[in-house]
Amino acid sequence: MSKPLSIGVAGLGTVGVGVVKILAERKDFLTAASGRAMKLVAVSARNKTKDRGIDISGVRWEDDARAMSSADDIDVVVELIGGSDGIARELVETALSNGKHVVTANKALIARHGVALARVAEQRGVALNYEAAVAGGIPIIKALREGLAANEITSVAGILNGTCNYILTEMEATGRSFEAVLADAQALGYAEADPSFDVGGIDAAHKLAILASLAFGQEVSFDNVEVEGIERITASDIEFAKDFGYKIKLLGVAMRGPGGVEQRVHPTLVPEGTPLAAVSGVFNAVSIEGDRVGQLVLEGRGAGEGPTASAVLSDLVDIARGLVVPPFIVPTSHLKPSVKAKSDANKSAYYIRFNAADRAGSIAEITRALADAQVSIERIVQSSEPRDASTGRLPVVFLTHETEEGSMRKALIHLSKHEDVAGKPLVVRLATSGSR
Ligand code: HSE
Repeated sequence: MSKPLSIGVAGLGTVGVGVVKILAERKDFLTAASGRAMKLVAVSARNKTKDRGIDISGVRWEDDARAMSSADDIDVVVELIGGSDGIARELVETALSNGKHVVTANKALIARHGVALARVAEQRGVALNYEAAVAGGIPIIKALREGLAANEITSVAGILNGTCNYILTEMEATGRSFEAVLADAQALGYAEADPSFDVGGIDAAHKLAILASLAFGQEVSFDNVEVEGIERITASDIEFAKDFGYKIKLLGVAMRGPGGVEQRVHPTLVPEGTPLAAVSGVFNAVSIEGDRVGQLVLEGRGAGEGPTASAVLSDLVDIARGLVVPPFIVPTSHLKPSVKAKSDANKSAYYIRFNAADRAGSIAEITRALADAQVSIERIVQSSEPRDASTGRLPVVFLTHETEEGSMRKALIHLSKHEDVAGKPLVVRLATSGSR
């Protein structure tokens, strides 16, 4: 049997602890599956004395994780520190430059610097594996890299943030406000350190940018993702959507469009009865369409100790088996630059909610502004509640027929002239066929 694979784990939070546990508890199986032992030789974290419920007594402690990047006895650095820059980036860059394999769960790092890091990995002939960075325990990176390699991917759509899905599910089940349910999610430990990364859609956008790169053979470009969070969604929006036969989900969607690739993260009305509408709570799901395979939906836990550590271990097993593949499926020299598709001609139907002044003619003004922009209305619902406490306005909800994004933009400009009657509208897309 070959010599053991020596591992250094940087970061002993929830995921790091999970990795250490699996290495100990599944030792014999992992050795058999990899053809060699996996040996934890060093760990690093902020607090040395904290009781984490794991036995690391025989393992070297590094006060500075960066020491692992040049330690002679480490073959693989597992980076679980997080953050797109700072120590995590420095550690990964140096470890790769020094010819060490890297496994990371850091979506922000891969979304921001993935291609540059992949170049270093390629030059040194080492692995840069990041299965845990997207959708936790769902093996979506391997699915795209291996199982679906024969396909031209036409679209990727996913529920990529468990915190948002939990919040939207709870708001629907209990009718409670966004703020109240967010506080629960934080207490349960699902949310990122900065919850605006979750609810503002940034976390999902990091993950989507990675998926779009793998699906469409382009450089990862977080900056090309259009991002909108769930902060403005109210319990009554969820109720209106339900009456129309939809669930509201934060979706990440990537598909080819005119001149490039469209990458968007935003709340979306997803028709009930479709796979993504059925995903509830902290679960994640990714729907992929391939030209040969058709639609494929993978659902599972997107965060937490077990699922994320499970993904980290799958990357370690690959490395122990000697499998080193280009981090973005094809060598970086084959990746196309990321170009945003032109969006004006994109067609979608929309849910629009105004908090409209409760007086004669207000709806007439709103519908006139929509008509002037060629936006055709399918349904209108006016509700007598909830009345906005400060303005006294009442919600009026429109579902539009399919309309071009450019027309919708025009409509919003027209409407901004009527803000005194219409307030600032909430505009949510209805899922198109590639995004459900
Ligand atoms: N905050 C993330 C989520 C955790 O809620 O999905 C995993 O990236």
